[in-house]
Amino acid sequence: MTAPLWQKGALELDAAVQRFCAADDVVVDRELFPFDVRATAAHTAGLGRIGVLTGDEVARLHALLDELLARFTDGRFVVDDRFEDGHTAIEAFLTEQSGELGKKVHTARSRNDQVLVAARLWLKERLQQLDATTAAAAAACLDAARTTGNVVMPGYTHLQRAMPTTLAAFFLGHAESLLDSRDAARAALVLVDKNPLGTGAGFGVSLPLDRDGVTADLGMQGVVVSPQAAQNSRGKVELFALQALHLATLDVRRLAWDLSLFSTAEFGFVALPDRYTTGSSLMPNKRNPDVVELLRTLPAVVEGAMAETQAVLSLPSSYHRDLQATKAPVVRAFARALQGLGFVPALVQNLRFDESALRAAVSPDMHATDRALELVVQGLPFRDAYKQAAAEIPTYAGRSIDDSVQQRVSLGGAGNLGLERVADRLRR
Ligand code: ARG
Repeated sequence: MTAPLWQKGALELDAAVQRFCAADDVVVDRELFPFDVRATAAHTAGLGRIGVLTGDEVARLHALLDELLARFTDGRFVVDDRFEDGHTAIEAFLTEQSGELGKKVHTARSRNDQVLVAARLWLKERLQQLDATTAAAAAACLDAARTTGNVVMPGYTHLQRAMPTTLAAFFLGHAESLLDSRDAARAALVLVDKNPLGTGAGFGVSLPLDRDGVTADLGMQGVVVSPQAAQNSRGKVELFALQALHLATLDVRRLAWDLSLFSTAEFGFVALPDRYTTGSSLMPNKRNPDVVELLRTLPAVVEGAMAETQAVLSLPSSYHRDLQATKAPVVRAFARALQGLGFVPALVQNLRFDESALRAAVSPDMHATDRALELVVQGLPFRDAYKQAAAEIPTYAGRSIDDSVQQRVSLGGAGNLGLERVADRLRR
């Protein structure tokens, strides 16, 4: 391993201890690395503006950082266990390439604010992906609501037949829920998109850093003012982001559950796209809904990451090495959940519904609530109408109930007007 940044003299480092402390940092830091390089460029530009680096030095450092990023991207530079962490790798590269100049890059910053800004920039990109991914899933559900139009299906509560509804209402419901989760991602983004760089180890630095300029360079929406708040935010912003991610995975778990239930032979309402199912190694007859089943596991992955993050955060103020352990679970959860959420649009677009099976599962008794309200309109108090509608159930068979279903679904928000209102939200 190259010497750690903090090694001053001849002290012999215990290799096993170093490996324990570094843990999987060099692997996890590969995720953060491009953001760390970008923040390093912004930091050095800021040092240039306050006269700590010359214009020429900044230009040379920027050229080297570009080179580093290019080599990292195409695999010529690997962040591996030659380094204690990704931050060390940056300084080691710059120093190896430029000697004295590289040694200046860490002026007025600490790895404590360096990792904070890299993690926030990384998280910002993930939340933007979450925003786009939930929107794409919502759009697919909204399209499904439009194209399935008035197709009638049974609605269930307690998994018992309840009232007739429509595929449009079913899909609109999923679309709107996903848009709520998109709002949560945006709320998390507001918190994440603030720049902690320039707060040093947690107590500021004695140079008049151009924090606003660096923030603008990084394209972030504000600064974290207090160095202590910056340190104490580590893990907390990650947790908020995980919570937003969790909400989206809960939406998808419900949709996945609905589809796995409705695609059983017993329901027979929908066929999943072939390429989203797998076979059995033993039973030649099987097609298994593995994709929707694994979509159901996404909340578990995120909950695991939330639990791990929360457990680590039981700390007093300021930096503690414990905080290093907030990175891996967040990276893992976003990678897996975004991968899964990405399948939702194509899954929804390729579902094939069996309209006659849906209709056949709507039994006449399910009309009782609509009938009771029909009687209310004719002047009966609701409780009397309820009893009369119940008594009439044996006479429902053969009645056309579609008009009252469509009317109710439309009043319930899944008519054209409702679809347009959700579409409006999707466009925002
Ligand atoms: N790998 C460390 C982390 O992720 C970097 C910061 C190290 N800071 C320190 N004071 N040891 O937290």
